[in-house]
Amino acid sequence: MQGDRTIEGVLLSAEQIAIRVRELGAQITADYKPLVDWTAPQPNIMAVGILKGVVPFYADLVRAIDLPIAFDFMAVSSYGAATATSGTVRILKDLDKAAEDRHLLVVEDIVDTGLTLSYLKENLLRRNPLSLKIVTLLNKPERRKTSITPDYNGFEIPDVFVVGYGLDCGENYRNLPYIGIIRT
Ligand code: IMP
Repeated sequence: MQGDRTIEGVLLSAEQIAIRVRELGAQITADYKPLVDWTAPQPNIMAVGILKGVVPFYADLVRAIDLPIAFDFMAVSSYGAATATSGTVRILKDLDKAAEDRHLLVVEDIVDTGLTLSYLKENLLRRNPLSLKIVTLLNKPERRKTSITPDYNGFEIPDVFVVGYGLDCGENYRNLPYIGIIRT
């Protein structure tokens, strides 16, 4: 128990997550191999993690990708309920590196309404990357409010509130090694 809530059940065990992350890594390796510029001084493929919930997934996924890959991160926060429908988000931390001349692989923990990713995708595409794809560990398609579809998807889950493996409820539970369900 963390905070004032209790885990109701395990949705995905650490083993299930590890197996799926390895599969995603193998698939991404196969798809991106032809895109690698072996002569470039820095990798031309960049994994863009969306902080903070993505940290465990990002760390496991990049180690399952057997290609040169640069790391970068963004942190965003929603403006709040008033603007939630517009999907406007505030960029708290932007990329350190240029997106131009790189293949961007945006790494997310969960796609829920899709508003955050729609905003980010549009924002990143304006920087003229060579390509942009999205990988998410979890996908809640029932709650989607935009047309965004992740290119790689770890697990489709029902409309439940999940925590663990990076995902939080008021900063609690991020360090659980599995994904659990809590009552909202
Ligand atoms: P979206 O813009 O609605 O797709 O919001 C995605 C963000 O909402 C994620 O990056 C999470 O921070 C948060 N989120 C959505 N569903 C859950 C959940 O079930 N548990 C924890 N965080 C969630």
